[in-house]
Amino acid sequence: KEDDSSSSTSGSGGSKKLVLGFSQVGSESGWRSANTDSVKEAAKEAGYTLKFSDAQQKQENQISAIRSYITQGVDVIAFSPVVVTGWDAVLKEAKAKKIPVVLTDRSVETSDESLFVTLVGSDFTDEGRRAAKILEKVLEKAGHKGPVKIAQLEGTTGAAPAIERAKGFKEVMDADHADDWKIVVSQTGDFTRAGGKQVMAAFLQSNPDIDVLFAHNDDMGIGAIQAIEAAGKKPGKDILIVTVDGVKDGFIAMSEGKINAIVECNPLLGPQLMEVVQKVKDGETVERWIKTKESDFMQDQAKAALPTRKY
Ligand code: AHR
Repeated sequence: KEDDSSSSTSGSGGSKKLVLGFSQVGSESGWRSANTDSVKEAAKEAGYTLKFSDAQQKQENQISAIRSYITQGVDVIAFSPVVVTGWDAVLKEAKAKKIPVVLTDRSVETSDESLFVTLVGSDFTDEGRRAAKILEKVLEKAGHKGPVKIAQLEGTTGAAPAIERAKGFKEVMDADHADDWKIVVSQTGDFTRAGGKQVMAAFLQSNPDIDVLFAHNDDMGIGAIQAIEAAGKKPGKDILIVTVDGVKDGFIAMSEGKINAIVECNPLLGPQLMEVVQKVKDGETVERWIKTKESDFMQDQAKAALPTRKY
C-alpha cells in the first residue's frame, strides 16, 4: 500500500520540496499507529513530499517499496525495518544511486556500516533491562516471595525490539536473579493483540502456575489479559504483568489494575526524523544513533499519567 502526500513544490517560493520515501513496518500495534501519524504530521509540518508505504509486516514488501523509491529518485529514504537481517542488497542499490538511508525505530545488521547514515530510535536492550528492574519493584509491592516463574511474549521473530528486549531482560535476570527467576515459556505473539491472546492461552494450558508475564509490547499484554481472564484468573494480581510501549490502551489497563508496570517506548519520532532527514540531505554530519528519551511507570502512577499521554 503506497500513498503520496502533498505536491512537489512549496506554496511560498515555488522551490523544490524535499522528497522522502518512507517504508513503514505495518499497522500491528497502537505504537505503530502513533508512529505513522507522527511521521505523516511531521513531514507535512516540514513541508516535504512524503511517499509512504505500509509493508504489512512483510520484508519483501519493504524491499519492493525501497526499490520503488530508488527508481523514483527520492532525496532520502527512511524506513523502520521489520527484521534485522537481509537488507544489504537493497541498501547497496540505494548507495549506488547516492540516495542516503536513515533508519527509524528499528536497526539492521549489515556487513557494511556505510549503507545507512543514522538510526533515530530507542535503546531496546535498555528497555529490556528496565523491564527487569521494574519487575523487582512490582514483585516487592505484591509481596511475592520465593521463585518467580516468568512467561515472555516476544515481539516479531527477528525484529530488533524482540531480540534486544529479550536480551536486556535476560542480562539483569542472569546477573541478579539467577537463583530465583526463571523464564518458563517464551514465544512470539508478533506484537499483535490477537497473537498475545492466542499465545497466552497456550501458555496457561502448559504452565498454569505462571507468576509473571513480560510482554514485549502493550498490545500483546492486552491480548494476554483477555486470555488470563478467560482462564478465570486476575491479571495484575494472580499474574503480575510488565509490558513495553505506554500507549493509551496500556495505560487504561494499568489504571484498571490489570498491568503492573509499563516501560515506555516513545513512537513520536516524526519531528526528530524530519530534522535529521534535512541535515542528511544538506550533507551535514549527524550522530550515528539518535536515541529517544523515555520513562517507566508503576501502576500507582497510571491514573494521574493517563490524561497526559499523547498516544
Ligand atoms: O519497534 C517498536 C515496536 O514495534 C513497538 O514496541 C511495538 O509495539 C511495535 O509493533
